[in-house]
Amino acid sequence: MNYKIPLFDLNYDDKEERAVIDVLRSKWISTGPKSQKLEEMFCEYFNVEHAVSLTNCTVALHLAMEVLEIQEGDEVICPSFTFVATANAIKYVGATPVFADIISEDNLTIDPEHIKKLITERTKAIIVMHYAGFTCNMDEILAIAHEHNLKVVEDACHGPLSEYKGKKLGTIGDVGCFSFFSNKNLSTGEGGMFLTNNKELAEKAKLLRSHGMTTMSYNRAKGHSTSYDVVKLGYNYRMDDIRASLGIVQLEKLPEDLKKRYKVRSVYEKALESVNNVIVPFKDHPYFSSNYIFPIVLSESVEKSRDEIRDMLHDSGIQTSVHYPPVHLFDIYYNEEERGLRKTESIYNRLITLPMYGNLTEEKVEYISKKLKEYAV
Ligand SMILES: Cc1ncc(COP(=O)(O)O)c(C=O)c1O
Repeated sequence: MNYKIPLFDLNYDDKEERAVIDVLRSKWISTGPKSQKLEEMFCEYFNVEHAVSLTNCTVALHLAMEVLEIQEGDEVICPSFTFVATANAIKYVGATPVFADIISEDNLTIDPEHIKKLITERTKAIIVMHYAGFTCNMDEILAIAHEHNLKVVEDACHGPLSEYKGKKLGTIGDVGCFSFFSNKNLSTGEGGMFLTNNKELAEKAKLLRSHGMTTMSYNRAKGHSTSYDVVKLGYNYRMDDIRASLGIVQLEKLPEDLKKRYKVRSVYEKALESVNNVIVPFKDHPYFSSNYIFPIVLSESVEKSRDEIRDMLHDSGIQTSVHYPPVHLFDIYYNEEERGLRKTESIYNRLITLPMYGNLTEEKVEYISKKLKEYAV
């Protein structure tokens, strides 16, 4: 269906087209100078020491687990209110994800109080996810990690250039992971980035992303080295230069796009003030956010189900989504005895993601709010 108001609109123009054509004409289309440039730009924009470009965020999370030496028998605490890849990465290395609840309907990020209760002798790390680009409570999470000697990985897929106390999200823990999937703030179709301030972790990630080989083919093609050794069981997790060239343009455009999204959010907040049955999470959030998505929570008094309301919005030409079905309820993770993420489950049943993109007009936001007022009863 062609929606009157889609959930997301790709921020592409002829700059992306020209960037790709330049790479095609250069005849070097796999990992090379563009991937390197994108990494250098990430270091500059995010004020971080090391950036490793990758095929997507799922592999960034996998590499984070590997370089932090998480292994079979270990436990890693993570939210259930996230995309399934956050938890899958833990399983890839044979460790066990232990799911923590979220704070409240006003703050959909992982609850530090619940994290504390879940720590055992086997806990080795915490993966946080900065929902919609709004930071988790990093001071508390870092303090818990410090006390129990745990590593911290930030799944910062939603939050490029979002901030917490003057730092960019994804640069606060041991490793930060980003996605450039097509509906993300920075889109390359598929793509990802691994950020760290730790040289050793960055070097391990670089080795693993390319088969554990000691040199990359671009270096060999340029005559910088002629042979290589294989010193680790690695993967092919490299980003190609076609996608990296898109990433460079998208990163240059990102600050402007985030300003526009910030305004869209303000218009939503104002328009929804008159809609009694709708809670807007993160309303008084004090830090800059990328506003990757715009979630709302229906109040418990709403009689219609969330899906009935979504169907009505759909019939009015408004595309919506739900971020996310809780991971602990998926078949491969489901364990009845462990069900008990009360807030995650209750809020999920009342959650709707509304359209959000930089060029979403005031008129459209008002139309969405008007329809919600009519349907959310
Ligand atoms: C929170 C979160 N984590 C991980 C991922 C996985 O990213 P990718 O699709 O780049 O592997 C996504 C993307 O959909 C995401 O939103």
